[in-house]
Amino acid sequence: MYKSIAAELVAEALNKSTEETTKMIERPKQLQHGDYAFPCFALAKEKRQSPQYIASELAESLSNPAFSAIEAMGGYVNFTLHKEHAGSHVLQTIQQQQAAYGSSTVGQKELVTIDLSSPNIAKPFSMGHLRSTVIGSSIGLLLEKQGYQVVRINHVGDWGTQFGKLICAYEKWGDEAKVRRNTIPELLKLYIRFHEEAAQNEQLDQEGRDWFRKLEQGDAYAKKLWRWFRDVSMEEFGRVYELMGVTFDSDAGEAFYNDKMDRVVKELEQKGLLSLSEGAQVVELNTYNLPPSLIKKKDGATLYATRDLAAAIYRKETYNFSRSLYVVGHEQNLHFQQLKIVLMKMGYDWADGITHIPFGMVLQDGKKMSTRKGKLVLLDKVLEQAIQLADDNISKKNPNLIHKEEVARQVGVGAVLFHDLKQERIHDIDFSLEDMLRVEGETGPYVQYTHARACTLLAKSEMNLTSPEIDKDTAAEAWPILSQLLQFPEAVTYAAANYDPSRIAKYVIDLAQAFNSYYGKVRILEEDEKLAARIGIVTAVKTVLAEGLRLLGIGAPKQM
Ligand code: ARG
Repeated sequence: MYKSIAAELVAEALNKSTEETTKMIERPKQLQHGDYAFPCFALAKEKRQSPQYIASELAESLSNPAFSAIEAMGGYVNFTLHKEHAGSHVLQTIQQQQAAYGSSTVGQKELVTIDLSSPNIAKPFSMGHLRSTVIGSSIGLLLEKQGYQVVRINHVGDWGTQFGKLICAYEKWGDEAKVRRNTIPELLKLYIRFHEEAAQNEQLDQEGRDWFRKLEQGDAYAKKLWRWFRDVSMEEFGRVYELMGVTFDSDAGEAFYNDKMDRVVKELEQKGLLSLSEGAQVVELNTYNLPPSLIKKKDGATLYATRDLAAAIYRKETYNFSRSLYVVGHEQNLHFQQLKIVLMKMGYDWADGITHIPFGMVLQDGKKMSTRKGKLVLLDKVLEQAIQLADDNISKKNPNLIHKEEVARQVGVGAVLFHDLKQERIHDIDFSLEDMLRVEGETGPYVQYTHARACTLLAKSEMNLTSPEIDKDTAAEAWPILSQLLQFPEAVTYAAANYDPSRIAKYVIDLAQAFNSYYGKVRILEEDEKLAARIGIVTAVKTVLAEGLRLLGIGAPKQM
């Protein structure tokens, strides 16, 4: 809100639109350079004058009670907020709006589908799918806060040639009792063995393909095995989702589109987009410098791409989205490029809204973690370990805590999720269990702990706040906190617009740090005439930390 006051002042003085000046206004890197800065370099070029000159002329001509100073410095106009004014204003706003602080209506209830999580059945839930789940969930929460309507879709990988291979392996070497006891690890073993033996024996791949064909043709026995694998997998995934507190609006996986692909293939044919390449049906994309999109294999088997085409069309028809997001690792960049172009070629201009949101891989010893190579780290084990650790900590520090189990879950899961979300989405991450479980430094539990500390202070003070006013000294002392609180709406807007939850993770760390250093310096509960102002600050910090954590999909216990 103060940013827009500054933008309006500049716009008026320069005869530009507020939109344009809003985009140009920056945040000075150093607190002593004020709260907003307007750079005059572009203007200087345009007018062939020095930026210093333009800045000082401009600064001279501006004034507004919201700012205590508007000064030129090094080619910038720096705006310094009137601290009591802005401080009281932000505390009152948070007091009134509570968790809704930072919300907006820019989304205008437009519908956005988010394809997220989407693990593959008969395999363990991988670290890559963890990334998709937590990044996708947070983006969903951010978009909802911006006034969008969100539909979360778990596009489970439950169809494809690999299930032919798996059925084939089960037929040859499977032991029903063993598989029943320990389904996913046993199926994984069978799958790995299939690949090992297929390397020696060409016949095997053919057998696998034959089983997949049977499955696609609805063979009862193949279907029964497939259904069993799927049910058990979904049950296991469900446990992970429950621990993480994640839910979906739809579990329509790849198999869901089995009866919806014919129509798409026909349509591609009618529109003259299909061509034959080595017996397979493809859509040529050489004019886009891309390899062809494979629609049907030589033996008539459908592919991942075919199912995604059918899914995109189904989603448009079912939800009438304005945007359709896919939170999937960057190794599938090409796939989503192709998907979008094929839909365009089919004449669907809504394909414009198809957006791949890529993220980095989880690396182990510099390489992508491989399901097939064995030494896989299992997500449910990581989560359980994190929760156990949190539980041990609570037992040591706060043995009588009520709802201890739920708090341990929130803190353990908070550590794992925050560790992921604080990284820039696109960067690869080196897997480190130690880092994921860490509770000190820039971690989820550190933020949760700060929130709990604020709650404890408030519980002790028992003060009922109505409309917090802040005096000059308190505003100056608490300025790092107040200025951070003022930035929350901007942080949310940025994070939502860039699909970047790490902005919020960094935000809550900064706010928590500002608060902890204040807490270390100031006797918050001292009974003096400034108590109400300080309680106002603690209340606002508590509210915004909890809301920031919520946007990351992380709980904020009141005690821990
Ligand atoms: N199951 C896929 C995988 O693990 C991810 C699916 C992503 N969503 C999609 N619509 N293709 O690689």
